[in-house]
Amino acid sequence: MIIGVVKEIKNNEYRVAAVPSAVREMVNRGHKIFVEKNAGIGSSYTDEDYEEAGAVIADCETIWKESEMIYKVKEILPQEYKYLREGLIILTYIHSNAHLEMTQKLLKSKVIGIAYEDVTDKDGKFPLLSPMSELAGKGGFLAALHYGQSVNGGRGILLNRVSGVDTPVITIIGGCGHSGMGAAEIAASLGNKVIILDVDKEIMDEVKLKLPSNVEFLYSNRLNLLRCLKETDVLMNCILWNKTRKDHLVYRDDLKLMKKCSMIVDIACDDNGAIESCHSTTHDEPIYFEEGIMHYCVDNVPSAFARTASVVLAHATLPYALEIANKGCERALKENKYLLKGLTCYKGKLTLEETAVKHKLTLTPQEKIVEQF
Ligand SMILES: NC(=O)c1ccc[n+]([C@@H]2O[C@H](COP(=O)([O-])OP(=O)(O)OC[C@H]3O[C@@H](n4cnc5c(N)ncnc54)[C@H](O)[C@@H]3O)[C@@H](O)[C@H]2O)c1
Repeated sequence: MIIGVVKEIKNNEYRVAAVPSAVREMVNRGHKIFVEKNAGIGSSYTDEDYEEAGAVIADCETIWKESEMIYKVKEILPQEYKYLREGLIILTYIHSNAHLEMTQKLLKSKVIGIAYEDVTDKDGKFPLLSPMSELAGKGGFLAALHYGQSVNGGRGILLNRVSGVDTPVITIIGGCGHSGMGAAEIAASLGNKVIILDVDKEIMDEVKLKLPSNVEFLYSNRLNLLRCLKETDVLMNCILWNKTRKDHLVYRDDLKLMKKCSMIVDIACDDNGAIESCHSTTHDEPIYFEEGIMHYCVDNVPSAFARTASVVLAHATLPYALEIANKGCERALKENKYLLKGLTCYKGKLTLEETAVKHKLTLTPQEKIVEQF
């Protein structure tokens, strides 16, 4: 198959879908890989690195025109709409429910869109989301370390155990998930007192074995949360929030309970989600204050660690890209029901239920599509 790896054009997106080692794997299996000039530069890979791995460096237009599959990281932006054509396979994070205009373009152009974020594994988990969650949790804690500094507008608390000073308290709601564990691992390793609030006792027991003894585990309920708000220095939200929920766990009024020098890091960064006062921010303007509390709610934390994130993402997605390339898209979708979960649209038909429900569009079930293959 001819596969095109394009340079990401979204603001502050430095990741690349395939790193040279992944390109080599695909080339070794007989596929032709185009990589756009400078596609890897944000992740510190040069065009020469890709050429050595067997890729052909080309310009954006050539790649979109000649490739059978476009392999990328972020959704399709308006500048890319002109390249969409019938039967072109697009493998990327699509987030069709959040981008209605793009979804309509994907449908109109009759591309085959497969979204990383909806591919599942045998346990119903999301193997192409979780690696980025871990990085987001880790990066979110490091952002607290950075923006908490006096020279960066913070309140000057060093998030580390220092003799003669109160040990900082880091509270992580949803701390037993992928992002929460990532945050807890670094926060605890620096000697902070870490409190994890979660609802799943079984997972709490598992996670407890993996983290050191300066991590405490509490049931996530209103009383425990209010108690934590009073003593915490950094509150982190790592819950996978149900987008249809109308309530919150932390209300704007609750912020008054928090110490004036504390901060909130919202990894989930759902607008009006678990923390009422949170709305998503960008790397250009990552923080804002509400009720005197600093909020950091960047929605693409992993991009700040583009090299690491690209390596992790590329190796997580590679088996799926290879399966599509080796078998052809239709056979791969038919034979792999977990990959099929990611099918967002197929030649003009919307196949992702949550997007159809959210935007009141006609749904063609994924199973119906593969019946015809
Ligand atoms: N900001 C970013 O750059 C970025 C990057 C990756 C992921 N994310 C987002 O981070 C969020 C979390 O992702 P994840 O992969 O870590 O999720 P996950 O499913 O692995 O973990 C969620 C955890 O929340 C717990 N939970 C559920 N309801 C709870 C409640 N009421 N109180 C306490 N805990 C509760 C679950 O038991 C689970 O342990 C998602 O919304 C994801 O989209 C953001």
